[in-house]
Amino acid sequence: MFQAPLPDEYAALTEEQTRERILTAKRTLGGRLLVLGHHYQRDEIIEHADYRGDSFKLCKDANRHPDAKYIVFCGVHFMAESADILTPDSQTVILPNLAAGCSMADMANLFQVRSAWTQLENVVGPGKMLPITYINSAANLKAFVGERGGTVCTSTNAPKAVEWALQNAEKLIFFPDQHLGRNTGDKLGYDVEREMCLWDPFKPLGGCSPDDLKRSKFILWKGHCSVHQRFTVEQVNEARKRDPNVQVIVHPECPIEVVRLSDCAGSTEFIIKTVEQSPAGTSWAIGTEINLVNRLANENPDKKIWCLDSMICPCSTMYRIHPSFLCWALERIVEGDPANVIQVPPKTKEFARIALDRMLSLI
Ligand code: 13P
Ligand code: SF4
Repeated sequence: MFQAPLPDEYAALTEEQTRERILTAKRTLGGRLLVLGHHYQRDEIIEHADYRGDSFKLCKDANRHPDAKYIVFCGVHFMAESADILTPDSQTVILPNLAAGCSMADMANLFQVRSAWTQLENVVGPGKMLPITYINSAANLKAFVGERGGTVCTSTNAPKAVEWALQNAEKLIFFPDQHLGRNTGDKLGYDVEREMCLWDPFKPLGGCSPDDLKRSKFILWKGHCSVHQRFTVEQVNEARKRDPNVQVIVHPECPIEVVRLSDCAGSTEFIIKTVEQSPAGTSWAIGTEINLVNRLANENPDKKIWCLDSMICPCSTMYRIHPSFLCWALERIVEGDPANVIQVPPKTKEFARIALDRMLSLI
């Protein structure tokens, strides 16, 4: 989405002046304001968050504060949309920088998903399939899923969502992240070779044969996260060489070879909890976004913590929430002229809400 440049005065502020102005705006707005910060945000943003969390937890946090008139979501676009869907119209959701999107979410659009659904139904027959969309997707895809009886999932509840779908249908289509879909199926004991196939939206029938599609329980969309797909088997081996006692923990958006070789894999909240609750002196090589890994290392000085990828991998779109944007967004609220309001159209909201409510019930 297009983000207009900030007024010049914000570029002229020092870091400390920006910080002071954010604190002043927050004080002025008091309980009318809720600031949410995803774990991948930089420290200078997280310091201002009333709640920090992964996408699942932040959805619940947004839902729990009916008194806050303004929810400023320091995360990416699909997260702000989800907050808007889950909160009443009396609450206004704001994304400080509209250019903060998610490259993975952009790998599936409504046109492509509708086309895939029709092609699949033609091959496997109607009523055989349920759709699951990862929360990293546009609101209209969540609505598509809600309208067809499916669910949204996050990395926290993906196994529950998959189990639920396969209790209610023969097969599922999972978009947009192939890795989360594959890793979840693998964890639940499904055969990756025989029971899964990869749907390429740019090829007829997704590049699959009708037999593959009929046989497979998992139709996995060919999308990925550019941050997590960078982690490799070599990096895991390197970490074990560096410290034979290291435990490797990764996000399930990583490739399956990496997840299988790791000691454990799970959502952002899972990674944080596991590392925080581990005994002092343990060492952890972590395969996820660098802001989170660095924060974990700083907050757990009694443990040895490092990122699996020595080249460092920030999520460049999360990084677009610079403190200057947060300052500007808060001051626009104080002035009574909120900017960057995220408003999902009512019809989309109605069906997307069904899919998000199902997600929240599958814990
Ligand atoms: P979480 O669901 O763990 O917050 O992940 C969201 C995300 O974008 C990870 O790349
Ligand atoms: Fe999207 Fe990956 Fe960034 Fe998460 S880390 S917001 S999946 S690009």
